[in-house]
Amino acid sequence: MRDAAPQTIYLKDYTPFGYLIDSVELTFKLHPTKTRVLSKIAFRPNPEATDNRFFLHGEDLTLISAKIDGQDVTVRHVDGGLEADGPARAFIWEAEVEISPSTNTALEGLYMSNGMYCTQCEAEGFRKITYYPDRPDVMATFDVRIEGEEPILLSNGNPGAKGEGFAEWSDPWKKPAYLFALVAGDLINHPGSFTTQSGKDVELNIWVRPWDEHKCAFGMQALKDSMKWDEDVYGREYDLDIFNIVAVDDFNMGAMENKGLNIFNSSAVLASPETSTDANFKRIEAIIAHEYFHNWTGNRITCRDWFQLCLKEGLTVYRDQQFTADMRSGDVARIENVLALRARQFPEDQGPLSHPVRPEEFQEINNFYTATVYEKGAEVIGMLKTLVGDDAYANALDLYFERHDGDAATIEDWLKVFEDATGRDLTQFKLWYSQSGTPKVSVSEDWDAESGTFSLTFTQSTAPTPGQDVKDPKVIPIAIGLLSPEGEEIQATEIFEMTEATQTYQAKGLSVRPVPSILRGFSAPVILEQDIDNTRRAFLFAHDTDSFNRWEAGRDLARDALLDMIENDAAPSALYLDSLRKVFADDTLDPAYRAYLQAQPGESDLARTLAAKGVTPDPDKIHAASKAFKQAKADALKDLLRPIYEDNQIDGPFVPDAEGSGKRALANSVLSLITKLDGGTLAQSQFEAADNMTQKLAALSQLVTAGKGTDAITAFYDQWKEDRLVIDKWFSLQVALAGPDDAAKVATALTQHPDFDMKNPNRFRATLGALAGNHAGFHHKSGAGYKVLTDWLIKLDDLNPQTTARMCSAFQTWKNYDPDRQALIKAQLERILAKEGLSRDTSEMITRILG
Ligand code: PHE
Ligand code: ZN
Repeated sequence: MRDAAPQTIYLKDYTPFGYLIDSVELTFKLHPTKTRVLSKIAFRPNPEATDNRFFLHGEDLTLISAKIDGQDVTVRHVDGGLEADGPARAFIWEAEVEISPSTNTALEGLYMSNGMYCTQCEAEGFRKITYYPDRPDVMATFDVRIEGEEPILLSNGNPGAKGEGFAEWSDPWKKPAYLFALVAGDLINHPGSFTTQSGKDVELNIWVRPWDEHKCAFGMQALKDSMKWDEDVYGREYDLDIFNIVAVDDFNMGAMENKGLNIFNSSAVLASPETSTDANFKRIEAIIAHEYFHNWTGNRITCRDWFQLCLKEGLTVYRDQQFTADMRSGDVARIENVLALRARQFPEDQGPLSHPVRPEEFQEINNFYTATVYEKGAEVIGMLKTLVGDDAYANALDLYFERHDGDAATIEDWLKVFEDATGRDLTQFKLWYSQSGTPKVSVSEDWDAESGTFSLTFTQSTAPTPGQDVKDPKVIPIAIGLLSPEGEEIQATEIFEMTEATQTYQAKGLSVRPVPSILRGFSAPVILEQDIDNTRRAFLFAHDTDSFNRWEAGRDLARDALLDMIENDAAPSALYLDSLRKVFADDTLDPAYRAYLQAQPGESDLARTLAAKGVTPDPDKIHAASKAFKQAKADALKDLLRPIYEDNQIDGPFVPDAEGSGKRALANSVLSLITKLDGGTLAQSQFEAADNMTQKLAALSQLVTAGKGTDAITAFYDQWKEDRLVIDKWFSLQVALAGPDDAAKVATALTQHPDFDMKNPNRFRATLGALAGNHAGFHHKSGAGYKVLTDWLIKLDDLNPQTTARMCSAFQTWKNYDPDRQALIKAQLERILAKEGLSRDTSEMITRILG
């Protein structure tokens, strides 16, 4: 139900809640449609508050009774909750409410997924469970009693009494309500244990449905690795006797860090070699680490208000990226993080949804779990570490945990810790949190042979973004290395701290003009504009001693070659193909890295690049050029392909580690080129022989792309129809790989398949999200792609506003396209907005996208 007029909430309006809570006791009497929740909460006036209004949030609750100090009280139902006359002294609030988990399709609060009860409270879901000050700065200890028939009854903290039909849990650590969790169901556990650095034994469990038991081992190992890593690298030890993870099928996001009881989308924890790809394994490892790391960065130190979301998310993403880099190849991890940033965060920051890493206003906080808050938030921390150095970063983090343990903190607190630990003034650095948009950094070179001085003059600028017309120069750490004309490193990486709009870096006393390698390791989330020719790029592609920049040089060459094909009908660049041949032939390179060396920019990426140059992208042309380019690569590398494919086959069991997954990635990337030459013969035999999903799915993709997938699609379905997560892949692959004229039709047909279930976010995303990701299909000039997505978003909004709103971002780049397409999209956006009873979530998103 939408409020009459959506309200905007501002950071500047923050005031503390009028009361503190000493303890919370909750009793749940579970029932699918009539769950009773009894709460007993000890309040006392907050000495720091000026406003002592006793307001409790509550949504979709039926109030049965309310008492203060044992006496019935009259409450006033107001917008978003209730009010009562709160005494100006300590008192006990008791309430009983009734809720209906089985009809809760929004998957927020207490809901049911395949017959099991589970909760999702972040950001503001606890108010759908009981009346409560549902804000992160109100922290309390929770004692929970669950009464229900389900064999397994779980909540946060340590287990207490347990018996026939009930279980009690008690969480000794103060926490905000968004970290509350409850699970009840017919579950079995995959057990494990961990001994912490101080010698405490922790019981570990991954709870799943019986049929998923064989998919837990990898997640359990990832959990243990995460626990050990956080001790070794951050000195952070786990603080309860038990750590539970539960897999649920219906979940809006990836996973949730509830204290001691993490709840995961089953796609983010369950894995087996037969059913999961290497990419799945890697993602699962990262998400398990992410949620575990939240125990300190998020739970022990939480956010004062939701504007501070990046305090926990940016830092925790940064930590999980460090973990992945340590567990696997750091070079490849950096490339993957940057690819993800450019694919998800750059378009957001360069379009109508652009917002600061710490937003200053919102209508619906669920709409701000964005790539900007998460991924750019992580980049900002990486820059901070680069600027202060590794040791100072470690000291600052120690101080952060020491000073703020138990707090609900702010970005100001976070930066103050760095200022105190390093003596640095971070006033200008703070602009990274408040100023939105992706800075552009352009660079020009100068060489003075007489004095041997080489200069790089940098200029930074950021285009206006919604609500921010003027941008100030930021602090930008630019990592620079210098190479000799022979490709030897003559100056190792140095950090140039740019603080002005225009600033010059100099290297002196050089005997030859060096070749610079700039923004090594992608040292800042900016767009680097270098006016260099392709010979220089080819040189860097061959010689750069920074692995990231070496890959980047090849990528830039490939991109320019593609743009030339799209804009000028040029032939595929011989210089690029020649350079690629030389680099790709080098079998001393790490296979995973080598696979990335030949990957080409995707079609959406090319469309955005064109738009940024002021050229209107033509999706059909981009699609055709991308195919032709790939064919040209296959032709140019022809004789290398088969040997690389053979060399990277693995005998023996499937191991989803860096080495095995790297070889499979390289072999599969080569397979995609071979298919361009043999029309699918090798792909067919790989499809038939594969005993793991990584090879199976890659082969299936190639067959479908080559137009030979019909039988394989059927066979795949027959083999895997009982496995939801595999069938998600089956839905997604068909839509993602459909040709431009077919994508909307394929998606529509799949929505009529008996296995399509719009209530399941994974299945919905696998089908409609894949349509939005099929660039040429989604942007088909008929408008069919836009219409199909819109039809489904309108339907889903009634059931699940959060997932609907997130998927609206498919339209965020609409102004990049031609007037006809813009008109088609605008009509669909307006159709959504005109829908009766549109959710606040979706209404905010569409309004912002329309601009
Ligand atoms: N806090 C979760 C995470 O990043 C994400 C999440 C947000 C999950 C909101 C559910 C709802 O780890
Ligand atoms: Zn998180």
